[in-house]
Amino acid sequence: MKYLKITGEAKLEGKVEISGAKNAALPLLAAALLIKGKCTLTNLPLVSDIKTMLRLLENLGATYELKGHSVTIDSSNVFNTKALYDIVRKMRASILVLGSLLSRFKSCEVSLPGGCAIGQRPIDLHLKALEKMGAKIELVDGYVRASGELIEANIHFDKISVGATENTILAAVYAKGITTIINAAQEPEIVNLCEFLIKAGVKIEGVGTSKLTIYGAKELKTDFTCEIIPDRIEAGTYLCAAAITNSNVEICKINPEHLGALLNKFDEMGIVYELGKDYVRIKSANNIKAANIKTSEYPGFPTDMQAQFMALCLMADAESIIDERLFENRFMHVSELNRMGANITLNNHIASVKPSKLQGTHVMATDLRASSALILAALVAKGTTYVHRIYHLERGYENLYEKLSNIGAKIEVLEEAE
Ligand code: UD1
Repeated sequence: MKYLKITGEAKLEGKVEISGAKNAALPLLAAALLIKGKCTLTNLPLVSDIKTMLRLLENLGATYELKGHSVTIDSSNVFNTKALYDIVRKMRASILVLGSLLSRFKSCEVSLPGGCAIGQRPIDLHLKALEKMGAKIELVDGYVRASGELIEANIHFDKISVGATENTILAAVYAKGITTIINAAQEPEIVNLCEFLIKAGVKIEGVGTSKLTIYGAKELKTDFTCEIIPDRIEAGTYLCAAAITNSNVEICKINPEHLGALLNKFDEMGIVYELGKDYVRIKSANNIKAANIKTSEYPGFPTDMQAQFMALCLMADAESIIDERLFENRFMHVSELNRMGANITLNNHIASVKPSKLQGTHVMATDLRASSALILAALVAKGTTYVHRIYHLERGYENLYEKLSNIGAKIEVLEEAE
């Protein structure tokens, strides 16, 4: 198994190009199952979660051609509507094929998902919405078995869920009549999904708002191209890397509008940056001031940036309070950061983060974003940090080690002795 050796007290400099968003690419790949022909996605991030999704599509009978960061998927001959446990267990977002397969084939079976261990993560909202649209849902031997012709429905989510909103949008595509989603998630990744479907000829109203109206279609267009949006979480992670090391680094090929909640906190913390149309350059981060966050749905502070932001708060001049509202078990990085000398205490979903001097040691990555928080801490710690179980990182960060090395981080990938 691979692990990382990171030399601390780093000073970074240069430019980092951000890849396409994994969390936008995954629903778009699921949406490709709705197209009875070819479609192309550009700016595809080459990370292991994407490879898992492509393997799932292939297993269902779709074919694909990958050229650099562009993939053309052909779903003309999808013959299998059973998404197997062996693939689905690797990644929770596999559940998104449920909406597409049910919409197109009127019946399917999808294994209950696995994914990051950051809480219970049920799929009750997904299933309730599909039932409301007329699907018959059964849970049999660890699989969701769904069948039925989908019909017009008003779906009112009592909790905002990115995945449930996406699955409902996908299911609505071939439904008879109009599907309305109230209290829909408004993440940029959902806007990207709507853009893809609009290119395919689906009529959608309210894109980017909490009320979506999707008009069921009989046929979709083929042979179109959709660009995947830049990864706002990858961008945010590098912004924190630049800030935590008080470095001058440009994070480019991004949409800064998607980073509003994080940049707003940077303002409060006295971090100096230059804002461009498609880049942010961190200029300096001397005397970082403490800041409090409460994670929430977009456009609030993203839970996927909580761990990295916590690492940054360790460098602040006073106590910061971090309130995690979305996932009950998303503080697994805390004990690892504390092993490096961090002074973080937990009280249920609230973390108190006090100014700390970090010291390199051996730490264990526990989930995707927790892993990147450990890397940020390692960059600024005194001495050497060894980060184990880095396969989590490869699920969501393209060329992380190269990108960090290119801006001056001393980071080596080593092989664990048996
Ligand atoms: C997506 C992102 C993930 C991010 C999360 C929140 C992808 C592939 N993943 O995950 O990186 O951390 O949004 O921004 O895009 N919930 C229920 N019942 C459900 C579904 C969700 O109770 O049926 C709860 C969850 O447990 C959680 C909250 O709703 O507490 C939000 O989860 P959700 O928005 O669904 O997250 P994901 O779509 O799984």
